[in-house]
Amino acid sequence: MKSNKLNSTDLPNAQAVFIHDDAEVLSTAVARRIAALAAEAIAARGVFHLALAGGETPRRCYEKLRHHTLDWKHVHLYFGDERCLPDGDASRNDSMARAALLNHVTPPQANIHCIPAELGAIEAAASYALELESAGKLDMVLLGMGEDGHTASLFPGNPANAIMEAAVPVFNAPKPPAERVSLSMGTLNAARNKLFLVAGAGKREALEQIMRGVALPAAQISKAEWHLDRAALPITNIT
Ligand code: 6PG
Repeated sequence: MKSNKLNSTDLPNAQAVFIHDDAEVLSTAVARRIAALAAEAIAARGVFHLALAGGETPRRCYEKLRHHTLDWKHVHLYFGDERCLPDGDASRNDSMARAALLNHVTPPQANIHCIPAELGAIEAAASYALELESAGKLDMVLLGMGEDGHTASLFPGNPANAIMEAAVPVFNAPKPPAERVSLSMGTLNAARNKLFLVAGAGKREALEQIMRGVALPAAQISKAEWHLDRAALPITNIT
């Protein structure tokens, strides 16, 4: 099973594009990449600040990351976004991350910085913005992309995309629940490393629009590494 590289001119703004045979190969490659960047950050600065992506695509990658040797006591985990649901709700992004990864590895509990989305979007965003400020620059943000080209909880045409705070309240999200909290476009872009995980034919249309220069929210993340599986590639790009 193999991965290869597409030239990044196919995705404007991308730093690099990697095409993987399937979602399993993609998950293996990204887990390896996270472990490598963690070792690099900890060696350089003694800490690795990682923001996890939500949705379903990253689940398998998180399961694989359990088996890598990371110096977890020096890893701080954040979330790119959270759904405004009760704490512990199975549909929350932090619930998926706990089931797939965090319940199986040993970062100190104080290193797991969940978004208190149960407080409601406005209060949670204000609280999380303060928490992010104490972290400083994130070393890596993992990002998914929705079928409409959203990333984190920044949806096309949503006023939240223009808010310059570190974390922003999101209302009227088209992907339930309508109320969410997201890292802002500025915070996502300021991270040292940005990495998209995009798999499945459902993402073809959004990728095709981005390749044509449509400024969907995912396209506004600059200098990201895009990890795509073949199924997500627009037909014209499959060789
Ligand atoms: C969420 C995520 C969202 C997700 C994309 C892709 O709350 O759902 O934060 O941004 O990453 O919608 O989701 P899938 O990986 O499930 O396709």
